[in-house]
Amino acid sequence: MAAFAPSGLPMSRQILVTSALPYANGSIHLGHLVEYIQTDIWVRFQKMRGHDCRYMCADDTHGTAIMLRAEKEGITPETLIQRVWDEHTRDFAGFHIGFDHYYSTHSDENRALASKIYLALKDAGLIEVKTIAQLYDPVKNLFLPDRFIKGECPKCGAADQYGDNCEVCGATYSPTELKNPVSAVSGATPVHKDSEHYFFKLGACEAFLREWTTSGTLQSEAANKMQEWFAAGLNNWDISRDAPYFGFEIPGAPGKYFYVWLDAPVGYMASFAKYAADNGLDFDAWWGKDSKTELVHFIGKDILYFHALFWPAMLKYSGHRLPTAIYAHGFLTVNGQKMSKSRGTFITAESYLAQKLNPEWLRYYYAAKLNGTMEDIDLNLDDFVARVNSDLVGKFINIASRTAGFIHKNFDGKLADGVANIELVGAFQAAASTIAAHYEARDYAKALREIMALADRANQYVADEKPWELAKKPEAVYRLHEVCTVALNCFRLLTLYLKPVLPKLAGEVEAFLDIPPLAWEDAQSLFIRHRINAYNHLMTRIDPKSIEAMVDANKQNLEPTPAPAPARHAEAQAHATQPAAATPVSDTISIDDFAKIDLRIARIANAEHVEGADKLLRLTLDLGELGTRQVFAGIKSAYAPEALVGRLTVMVANLAPRKMKFGMSEGMVLAASYPEGHKGDAPGLFILSPDSGAQPGMKVK
Ligand code: 2FM
Ligand code: ZN
Repeated sequence: MAAFAPSGLPMSRQILVTSALPYANGSIHLGHLVEYIQTDIWVRFQKMRGHDCRYMCADDTHGTAIMLRAEKEGITPETLIQRVWDEHTRDFAGFHIGFDHYYSTHSDENRALASKIYLALKDAGLIEVKTIAQLYDPVKNLFLPDRFIKGECPKCGAADQYGDNCEVCGATYSPTELKNPVSAVSGATPVHKDSEHYFFKLGACEAFLREWTTSGTLQSEAANKMQEWFAAGLNNWDISRDAPYFGFEIPGAPGKYFYVWLDAPVGYMASFAKYAADNGLDFDAWWGKDSKTELVHFIGKDILYFHALFWPAMLKYSGHRLPTAIYAHGFLTVNGQKMSKSRGTFITAESYLAQKLNPEWLRYYYAAKLNGTMEDIDLNLDDFVARVNSDLVGKFINIASRTAGFIHKNFDGKLADGVANIELVGAFQAAASTIAAHYEARDYAKALREIMALADRANQYVADEKPWELAKKPEAVYRLHEVCTVALNCFRLLTLYLKPVLPKLAGEVEAFLDIPPLAWEDAQSLFIRHRINAYNHLMTRIDPKSIEAMVDANKQNLEPTPAPAPARHAEAQAHATQPAAATPVSDTISIDDFAKIDLRIARIANAEHVEGADKLLRLTLDLGELGTRQVFAGIKSAYAPEALVGRLTVMVANLAPRKMKFGMSEGMVLAASYPEGHKGDAPGLFILSPDSGAQPGMKVK
């Protein structure tokens, strides 16, 4: 029999927690981090409470977009998703997101589980096959997902709209309704083509879903949204896609693949399956029909439909347990507006860390804004600086920085034998249960308000007692010891309460106080007769200049290379050549001569040795929409072929093809080396590469 706490929850709980699986075709940005930080705080809190809580996640790796991106980069989808996995896990670690396991949906476990669930749904009579017509790219031989079709809105006629909705008038429609559609992949006009699709009969699950969605699993706002969806009627769900598709082939349906959204949530399970196998846990105890563990999904409100309808229906009718809770959060705005690439507010995790901004500043700020509802949260960059500097440095750290030094200097690092102001410290201890209830309810904003109110009280105490003045009077030495011990008791308790939000800083405080990792129950003990280490400054203030630099960096990243106006171009050339006037670089050419050279960004899709050639490598260059070229380049002395594959470089794309001994060479790659006869001639060849962000086919000017 589980023992129950006064809250009605068992004393020791087993909790499996997930965050939504990010797509493997893009970088983690500050919008994503709202969810991972929200989840991570909750998980860390549960662990501090002594519960058996496991945090699972993975990259969401399947679909047409990932397949096409890999093709464009001249690499396999497997290579692409591995690279993105490395980037995602690096970024998450940078923000102290403590997954117990971070996997990939492209795994054996996921293939087996998705297939098993599908077959169970089929056995339950919940799969039907229907022929539907879809838009097809006759050049790429590919059925086109909605986002890969552009055309005129059928409602308002706006040009250049995606196949699913119009950004001008907001209409939603099916891609076959678009006027003058064009494939965004090849530019071809799509044709209608019939194909058999597999559908999950969601309509047949309605009675169960109506009951389940009102059983307390969802936030009230989400439950209301469900009622709207029920009223609109549940459509059966198309779960298959035709080859070519990067994903799992459907058992018994050659050439048909699971739609990415079918195997994505199964990825939660698969991540756990691998983790369970590696850690000796019983998979069925967590996912079986009768499991007593809690299953908690943190998601964004945009993917509620998948998690509150499809996913529970899939679980229920394949004989698995159901989610205990689905916690949806709102979107992130920056400075009150949608994140914007042109404003530089589409900020990647990587660029935040690159400016040496402390990840715990952002964790704290998000926590201060998160209240457990689906409301959007705003990252106001000025408020961010002010809030973090005032709360964390001005209030929290201040308590230790104003008192710890005296303990060292005057008392050999040792705290007093008792707590002189038990009223104050007792109030700090008594706050533990209220703060815990706020964390449990994901109302971190309230938890932090409580904690900062305590910090204010501690600061007031220090300001009233003035230890710096006590230290000047020999007769007040005993009082000084008492005051600093009280302040450090407060500081220790504040650290404990902030630890789910600031795990790294809490670790540093634990080292400074020389105590084992703080758990929630430690709130009830006093901190006396203990020797602490010397105090080193724990956290710096945010310099607003580094925020500006981050915003600028995100702007620059995304600006296309400006095409210089001819006059400026000429001026730049003149400046560049002036210092070397005595030894001119070369005879001048006119701007018109220069304009004849079609320089393009190319991705080296393949590179190989050429039998019988000493200096040449055979390169296959991908020019994006301009197709591929074969070029023989004399760079063998400087590069191993495998080191070149995947790299971007610059090529002359309109050089007349030349027939060489080994085949046609259809262009030239640009490389730097000293001209012949250069004094002190150093060997070396360096192919040119653009900054990251450039895409194959871009013009270089
Ligand atoms: O919306 C997204 O980014 C999806 N990749 C989330 C998947 S969550 C889960 F179902 F896998
Ligand atoms: Zn429109």
